[in-house]
Amino acid sequence: MTAHNPSTPTAVGPVLLLELDDSHGSTLAARVTGAIRQAITGGRLPPGARLPSSRSLATDLGLSRGVVVAAYARLADEGFLVSRPGSATRVSDIYPVPAAPKAVSSPADASGLVAIDLRPGPPDLAAFPRAAWLRAIRSTLSEIADSDLGYVSPWGTDTLRSALAGYLARVRGADVTPETIVVVNGVTQGLTLLVRVLRAAGHRQLAVESPSNAAQRGVLSSHGLSMVDVPVDEDGVDVEALARTHCRAVLVTPAHQFPRGTQLSSERRAALVRWAEDVDGVILEDDYDSDFRYERLPMSSLQGLAPTRVALIGSVSKTLAPGLRLGWVAPPPALVDALRATKRNDDFGGSVIEQHALACLLTSGEYDGHLRMLRRRYRGRRDALLAAVARELPDWPVTGVAAGLHLLIEPPAEVDEAALVRQAAVRGLLIQGTGRMYGTLPPHPGIVLSYARGPVSMFYEGMRRLAEAAGHAVAGAPAIDAGRRRPGHASGTAEDYF
Ligand SMILES: Cc1ncc(COP(=O)(O)O)c(C=O)c1O
Repeated sequence: MTAHNPSTPTAVGPVLLLELDDSHGSTLAARVTGAIRQAITGGRLPPGARLPSSRSLATDLGLSRGVVVAAYARLADEGFLVSRPGSATRVSDIYPVPAAPKAVSSPADASGLVAIDLRPGPPDLAAFPRAAWLRAIRSTLSEIADSDLGYVSPWGTDTLRSALAGYLARVRGADVTPETIVVVNGVTQGLTLLVRVLRAAGHRQLAVESPSNAAQRGVLSSHGLSMVDVPVDEDGVDVEALARTHCRAVLVTPAHQFPRGTQLSSERRAALVRWAEDVDGVILEDDYDSDFRYERLPMSSLQGLAPTRVALIGSVSKTLAPGLRLGWVAPPPALVDALRATKRNDDFGGSVIEQHALACLLTSGEYDGHLRMLRRRYRGRRDALLAAVARELPDWPVTGVAAGLHLLIEPPAEVDEAALVRQAAVRGLLIQGTGRMYGTLPPHPGIVLSYARGPVSMFYEGMRRLAEAAGHAVAGAPAIDAGRRRPGHASGTAEDYF
């Protein structure tokens, strides 16, 4: 017997007008998907709106129910819809932005504006596979011995290092064994440990891409190496400029340059490895979001090309959650012992239970399945943000769209980037400018927009606010909003995630 659930949609349900034209694709499911997506991104279906049951929409449209079920499933994958067993399918709600409303100060709140947070950093935290993780934690606790809960292998449990070795070889073409992997608390710890190892080995400078992640530079420069900026162009880091420095170590983001979004070209990959051989140097490969590719063919890691020269560093911060603080380093074999010792002396290792749980996810195939779902979701979000940029900011060049979780837009020359970030913030839109990412080299104006966290239904509104902010960020424009700024947020970047 089934109990009556008051939230179960009735057979009638809300009525939804959809025009099924073929601009969204040739199959019926693609047309229904595209029409609903358009209704959401265009604001006709607001966040939280209830959709008709698949049965009643199918009846209204004269289609089979399977077509509507497929469309709803696709839109749920993309993050536009939320459906839970026993309750109606709804448009994704406003994403809860814990930091943002605090950061956007009262003007936005007072005027009733909803904060829209498009700063790069965390992925879609609502996509964390809670059920799979719970299962993995349960089986971990029933499987591991009491003795496994002690101070065991500070550089990572055997199970996780084996699972990671298999995964990195299969997915990133890495040349690794469980013995050469060190488990760390995220890319950040992997890099700080490597910097300390390099310093102990006599390095005094680290070449970094310009532009690159500003927070990361700050962290690394406090560990004993000075940062030397090397320019980046559309092929990636400029290896000739690198060769003119006195550095023998470089930090790069070859799979997806942060923030420009480009991929290191094959020629540059070969040139970079030659450089490392010539100077007896080390390449630190920050593989922070290589799992997300849309139009781009997969390219194996640089580490697979030159395992004695490259340290591959990755984490689950983009694929699962940064709060797990779980990552890995596959250093050149010559650095393994020093890296292990540094990790042990730092913190005696990470959480054994979480490491076992991640190993379970990797070996069961659930991690791969989760990534497949995420790629579909992020591709849909990226397309929605691109459509919003094209409508509201048609003259702003957009780059770096083929991979990752963010894109880069270029404001017109007359717009001051820092003023734009501030003006956007007072309108409840949080974005990140690239100004601080160039170090000592001249900056090129740019705005990083993340599409990882929803709500997609607010992307048009976000770009509308950005267009409005741009009107007040032109030199000589009346700074009518200056007085509404909260002092702590004046720089517009002080509270960036990362
Ligand atoms: C360039 C870059 N590397 C690495 C990371 C991730 O660092 P972690 O693994 O320490 O969370 C980020 C996070 O946003 C990043 O932007």
